[in-house]
Amino acid sequence: MPNARISGTGFYVPPRVVTNDDLVARGIDTTNAWIVQRTGIEARRYAEEGIGTSDLALPAARDALARAGLRPRDVDLIVFATLSPEMAFPGSGVLLQQKLGMCEGDDVKLCGALDVRNQCSGFLYGLQVAADAVRAGSAKHVLLVGAETHSAAIDLSTRGRTVSTLFGDGAGAVIVSATDEPGGVRGPWLGADGRHAELLCQKVWDIRKRPFIPLDADGVGHVDAEHMWAQMDGRVVFKHAVEKMCLALMQACWATNVEPADIDLFFFHQANLRINQYVASQLGLPDDKVVHNIQRYGNTTAATIPILLAEAERDGRLTRGKKIAMVAFGSGFTWASAIVDW
Ligand code: ACO
Repeated sequence: MPNARISGTGFYVPPRVVTNDDLVARGIDTTNAWIVQRTGIEARRYAEEGIGTSDLALPAARDALARAGLRPRDVDLIVFATLSPEMAFPGSGVLLQQKLGMCEGDDVKLCGALDVRNQCSGFLYGLQVAADAVRAGSAKHVLLVGAETHSAAIDLSTRGRTVSTLFGDGAGAVIVSATDEPGGVRGPWLGADGRHAELLCQKVWDIRKRPFIPLDADGVGHVDAEHMWAQMDGRVVFKHAVEKMCLALMQACWATNVEPADIDLFFFHQANLRINQYVASQLGLPDDKVVHNIQRYGNTTAATIPILLAEAERDGRLTRGKKIAMVAFGSGFTWASAIVDW
């Protein structure tokens, strides 16, 4: 049975930088000091209107393929993690396949394209699908993408400030490839607790109703603000996040017989710098081993961990032979962890 390794990384963030002061200038009753002190976020990126999540994913996917020395037709499966797909259906995976030129011409490859809907844990949930496909021999190379266009779906008014100030747009991608070398991807280990499904959610419609979005007398659909925007009980999310991230990381260490001290770099989901600092302090992890980018990008949900990986490779911190741990927690609640020999 082959092992699964990460053979290429890529990322793309849209060029428009939106600082905390830019949000104040839009009329949101907040301050740079409040956001930095509570979350660590200084800026985030917003895509322009007309750009979709698969558009952000395309340069990230091309970047990862190039670094793996592969062409689109070498991909046996696309796994696309996002909570902000272009449409209710189909998912963004098929849109990316088409944009990569895999549906016709020299790179044609009508491989499977799967969307994963696990929010901030989406990349690691997707990594389990990708690594298992490789280990089972049903795929040699899997293109795994996490991408989000949050800026279109956050309430940029004072009413929505608790959620909207946290999120940004971006995309990250990795290639998960078969290898005969030992090690590679260990896990991921996944968890979920559906009792908390409504503590962090964006309902938009109610499929139990007829029709699923209320219509007015003219037959026009209306979504009220409570359902249109994401709702979050931030304090409860914070409490569960630190607990589950600590447990998920320890689970990965126990399962692989690895001590946290043996791990070279930690890649945590970036929801709040304070959450990650708390987790690191609980587990006694030194600051220089914990990688952050929330200051520049905010929370990019499924894109967060692959962007972190790609940036760490490019700045020389993440090199072949290093042992890394990844941990995520988010809506669901869902959480996941993995250890990878790079
Ligand atoms: N600017 C100024 N004031 C604000 C802002 C803001 N951006 N946001 C909230 N406030 C106010 C609130 O209205 C409240 O005012 P009040 O006391 O007059 O009612 C006050 O600040 C305190 O609000 P809290 O929500 O209690 O603030 P808290 O210290 O908990 O920080 C935060 C909020 C940053 C959201 C924090 O709870 C958090 O990070 N939670 C976890 C978020 C997370 O991990 N999300 C998961 C990932 S997302 C995903 O999976 C999709």
